[in-house]
Amino acid sequence: MDNEVLKALRERRSVRAYKPQQITDEELQAVLDAGTYAPTGMGYQDPWIVAVQNPDIIAQLVRMNAAVMGVKSNPYYDAPTIVLVFASRPERWENGVCDGSLVLGNMMIAAHAIGLGACWINREREMFDTDEGKALMKSFGLPDGLMGVGSIALGYAARPLPAAKPRKDKYYRIVK
Ligand SMILES: Cc1cc2nc3c(=O)[nH]c(=O)nc-3n(C[C@H](O)[C@H](O)[C@H](O)COP(=O)(O)O)c2cc1C
Repeated sequence: MDNEVLKALRERRSVRAYKPQQITDEELQAVLDAGTYAPTGMGYQDPWIVAVQNPDIIAQLVRMNAAVMGVKSNPYYDAPTIVLVFASRPERWENGVCDGSLVLGNMMIAAHAIGLGACWINREREMFDTDEGKALMKSFGLPDGLMGVGSIALGYAARPLPAAKPRKDKYYRIVK
């Protein structure tokens, strides 16, 4: 079987080089909306999504993420938009990481489907566990009790997408 959705799922790739040009508000909205339609445990819609396009805050996120990683390079690959996903801490809601991960997945597929590049970028858990991270979450207007789940770098891909690596042998089996 094949259709546009299945094709997008197969052809989406992690983009690690971006054009400096910002995406349009319409494109950003489409990606964020797709994130909000991810399934969530109990239908709670627990995750919180923060799209950052402010250059000063992006520079702060780059610095914080690079510090966790212990590198000097930009962990978001100079993407002009960073979309952060937060969810309730495990003591408050056990499915926070699962819910947030599906939101991130939906947004990456949506980005690809409308011709944008995206890449999951990690380390938001550690970044937003610091005092600086907590202050930043407050400045975003988020409630207490959340943790960082992950983020996506988002923008126009600066290079053609590579082909997917072959899928591992026996990735799935069917038991009838
Ligand atoms: C949980 C998770 C964390 C990831 N963290 C990073 C990251 O911090 N930086 C990065 O460049 N890619 C990151 N990736 C992207 C993976 O490296 C990428 O999905 C994988 O190599 C397969 O490539 P593809 O997405 O092009 O199919 C992450 C992916 C997942 C699912």
